[in-house]
Amino acid sequence: MKPNRSFLLVCLGNICRSPLAEAALRDAAAQAGVDIAVDSAGTGAWHVGNPPDPRSQAVALAHGIDIAGYRARQVEAADYRRFTDILALDRDNLAELRRRAPKDSTARIGLLMDAVPGRGGQAVADPYYGDAAGFAVTWADVSAAAEAIVAELR
Ligand code: 4NP
Repeated sequence: MKPNRSFLLVCLGNICRSPLAEAALRDAAAQAGVDIAVDSAGTGAWHVGNPPDPRSQAVALAHGIDIAGYRARQVEAADYRRFTDILALDRDNLAELRRRAPKDSTARIGLLMDAVPGRGGQAVADPYYGDAAGFAVTWADVSAAAEAIVAELR
């Protein structure tokens, strides 16, 4: 059966934050037996075709999830009809997603952290220029959002 909700998680490069959000949401849905489709993409094109940042791979693996096979891609016009929900990891990417939305877009476009009670409007901070500790924060943020989304769907 085709899942009736499908989520595209979007950051800038699709190598740090959104692959972790994809992994966390996939995993939370699988654990709960909730049937959804999940993918991730970037608004930027610099890293298209690349695997996730090694620091993202490491934090995912530390939580039992192998994301080495993920490959970065850029958001495309068809995504706005293919996904029921397109969720940005921060406000810049949310604005960019809205700016690029085609006229026939059917997706709900929002901010990932709006799913988490008390954290509406917040960004998942970009860990790219920081150290491993930043990636642990990213994982905590996207896991909280994944759990909240799945709790709402089940
Ligand atoms: P992401 O992190 O948006 O979480 O994947 C970044 C990755 C690469 C760059 C910026 C942010 N970059 O400027 O190349």
